[in-house]
Amino acid sequence: MMGPKLLQLCTLLPSTHDTLAARYEVHQWPAEPAREDWLREHAAGVRAVVTGGHLGITNDLVDRLPDLGIVAINGVGYDRVDLDHARTAGVRVTNTPDVLTDDVADLAVALMLNVMRRLPAADRHVRDGLWPSGPQALARRASGLRYGIVGLGRIGHAIAARLAGFGGRIAYSGPNRKQVPHDYHADVTALAAASDVLFVATAASAATRALIDGAVLAALGPEGVLVNVARGSVVDEDALVAALLEGRLGGAGLDVFADEPHVPQALLGLENVALAPHVGSATRETREAMGNLMLDNLDAYFAGRPLPTPVV
Ligand code: 8YV
Repeated sequence: MMGPKLLQLCTLLPSTHDTLAARYEVHQWPAEPAREDWLREHAAGVRAVVTGGHLGITNDLVDRLPDLGIVAINGVGYDRVDLDHARTAGVRVTNTPDVLTDDVADLAVALMLNVMRRLPAADRHVRDGLWPSGPQALARRASGLRYGIVGLGRIGHAIAARLAGFGGRIAYSGPNRKQVPHDYHADVTALAAASDVLFVATAASAATRALIDGAVLAALGPEGVLVNVARGSVVDEDALVAALLEGRLGGAGLDVFADEPHVPQALLGLENVALAPHVGSATRETREAMGNLMLDNLDAYFAGRPLPTPVV
């Protein structure tokens, strides 16, 4: 017997997809220009959507699915889903918190190390056969620094836990002071001024759009390093590129960008920048755990049980 009709917008691990397909009548969202035809033929009866954190769902698509009851995000970020619109439409929204926290925090620290120790250039130095001709230019020490964390939520906490092993001093910013032994700055520019490395780990929202602007980058300064594992929208990318090109910022480690999968061309030639294609949660272990939690949310919804990790 076919399960409830479901529209899949994102790619999933094969194992997650197989389980999904065994329990639901899964339809793949086609590429343009086939979408209108698909909607005319199949929209009725679609009760669930599965999507990625970076993809979300448009209000238009929510409106075009009259029987939609749940949007299950295979990711922690819900910035690409209009929650008010979902509420009004009577659509539940779930995400996959916690299971990806450690991987994203690992990547944040890895990006810092890549930038400070110039590991991408070191790797090229060996591969390109430059080593016999001389050593690589000296890098910078990554330990014992002043680390600032923008957003001390689950991921911010996990970054702080890792940085505890680096010596140095940890500070953070966010809407509220927390019961932690780190310095609190209500103002992000003040945090940047007091940091050698600034980690962006805050959720994307209207309130955090371009939070890391030219003034914050200026406060971080020509020796400062920005690491972003949150969302591209939290950083004013034009200001970031200009600061890096003009030597007003020391370096950047970036896993997320304003217009993924497009990365500003100007960043590609910079030695003091480490780039990753939005892979914070992209390990086999975590993607499997995310898939399982996403499935648990769907199954709970259709069984009338409380949702494990509801957003709406
Ligand atoms: C993934 C993410 O890109 O969790 C998030 O919010 O951005 C990432 O884990 C994505 O959601 C995978 O589908």
